Amino acid sequence: MTTLKILAIGDVVGQPGRSVICRKLPLLVKERGIHFVVANCENVAGGAGVTPKLAGRLLSYGVHALTNGDHVWRKVEIAAKMAEDRRLLRPANLAEDSPGRGWAVFEVAGEGGPARVGVLNLIGRVYMPRAECPFRAADRALKALRAEGAQAVIVDFHAEASSEKQALGRYLDGRVSAFFGTHTHVPTADEQVFPGGAGYITDVGMTGPYESIIGRLCEPVIYNFLTGLPKPFRIAESQARLCGALFDIDAETGRCRGVTRVAVDDRYRFNLPPEESREVEAPDDEPDKESHHADI
Ligand SMILES: [Fe+2]
Ligand SMILES: [Fe+2]
Repeated sequence: MTTLKILAIGDVVGQPGRSVICRKLPLLVKERGIHFVVANCENVAGGAGVTPKLAGRLLSYGVHALTNGDHVWRKVEIAAKMAEDRRLLRPANLAEDSPGRGWAVFEVAGEGGPARVGVLNLIGRVYMPRAECPFRAADRALKALRAEGAQAVIVDFHAEASSEKQALGRYLDGRVSAFFGTHTHVPTADEQVFPGGAGYITDVGMTGPYESIIGRLCEPVIYNFLTGLPKPFRIAESQARLCGALFDIDAETGRCRGVTRVAVDDRYRFNLPPEESREVEAPDDEPDKESHHADI
């Protein structure tokens, strides 16, 4: 019997998000016996988009596959990198000629033997930018993933509406092993295993600073709601939290045995005693330079 423990990490926001992954992920992987890590990286570069350099950093911190969302092309230089690196995914149901790919198969060393794991990234259409039908895109992608020998399929559905997330999760139950939502930056408490064996959670939440409004400093966002006037939405600099969900999967049946929410605080910024902050060196990283006025 081959067991796969797969960690899905929600939207990594800016330098605080990168930092908590660098400092906490290695220990988490060791303690929980995790075999494979997927993280949504759409907010990793100054809060919007991902650069080749920052994608490389997340991969070097122990993430195996990177998914994306509506901010995917905000740093357009990622397009060339995405076309050549299979670990870097974008939603499969974007425009047909988008660079890169929406799914890939990874060889994973599980407990009891190796397994082929498919990762599929999709984006929603309710309160979201234009995209093709995620349901039909999932049908096509699953056919391709099976043809490539995927024994377990993990889906990151990047969407706003919980109804759309539940609908696609239910639609894919019996055909995927794990289905997690991203984009809202707020974790939900509805983790469960569906009758067909799909582990499900509506949103795994953000990996970034929670003393914030979905990762941004509070004051400019409140100002914008009160006045309608733009103001740069800078990344908050408070304590970060790594948020995700851990899926325990039987690779032989493709069924999920259990889903557990994961939340790990990075207390490094609060000058903890040395014994609590020694497990990982602080990352070789720089603060977020960029801010922007547009959507969060
Ligand atoms: Fe998003
Ligand atoms: Fe996001």
